[in-house]
Amino acid sequence: MSLALDAAAQDLLFREAQTANTFTDEPVTDEQVQAIYDLVKYAPTAFNQSPLRITLVRSEDARKRLVAHAMGANGSKTLAAPLTVVLSVDLDFHEKLPRLFPALPNVKDDFFSEAGYREVAGTQNATLQAGYFILGIRAAGLAAGPMTGFDFTGVDKEFFGDGKQKSFLVINLGKPGADAFFPRSPRLSFDEAATTV
Ligand SMILES: Cc1cc2nc3c(=O)[nH]c(=O)nc-3n(C[C@H](O)[C@H](O)[C@H](O)COP(=O)(O)O)c2cc1C
Repeated sequence: MSLALDAAAQDLLFREAQTANTFTDEPVTDEQVQAIYDLVKYAPTAFNQSPLRITLVRSEDARKRLVAHAMGANGSKTLAAPLTVVLSVDLDFHEKLPRLFPALPNVKDDFFSEAGYREVAGTQNATLQAGYFILGIRAAGLAAGPMTGFDFTGVDKEFFGDGKQKSFLVINLGKPGADAFFPRSPRLSFDEAATTV
């Protein structure tokens, strides 16, 4: 009763959605990925910095180059998925800030001239955007299989040679296949996760 979102949408996004480990062969189109992005791009980042970059891994060659850096079962899951995306942070996201945050035209130089700080802030905000992206995948009626079990230094060398983009998450997406889900693990209760001060 406390939530504004209708119960079916709550189920689609959260209660009934699970991380998928297998997928059907049904393709995931560029249009679907664009629709997901065009929805979740409105979710917030600091100074609207929007540092997330999305690489669609479609060709057989690119897929093989990606799974060469996968750990454990992540490689076979990725080879079998209809589409895989590599999420990365653009370490030069500040170049776009004059356009993305016109309210403070100097924010690019005042806050983000230092590369080390840019990496910390960019990674934090790109990671937030990755969470929004997972929910967007679910909003499209698809399932996501996010994975950090990759050698991201290797992935970066493979796909982002100039060092200006750092990958941090790989996501398989599509319609869930046979035995797609592991049993749901328990979650922390509100009382365990929250305190009031
Ligand atoms: C950031 C992130 C990294 C993950 N990395 C892996 C991974 O490398 N391999 C894997 O099989 N599952 C991975 N998972 C899947 C999680 O174990 C799964 O989402 C979590 O246990 C919740 O499962 P549920 O959606 O079925 O409730 C990852 C999930 C997230 C969000």
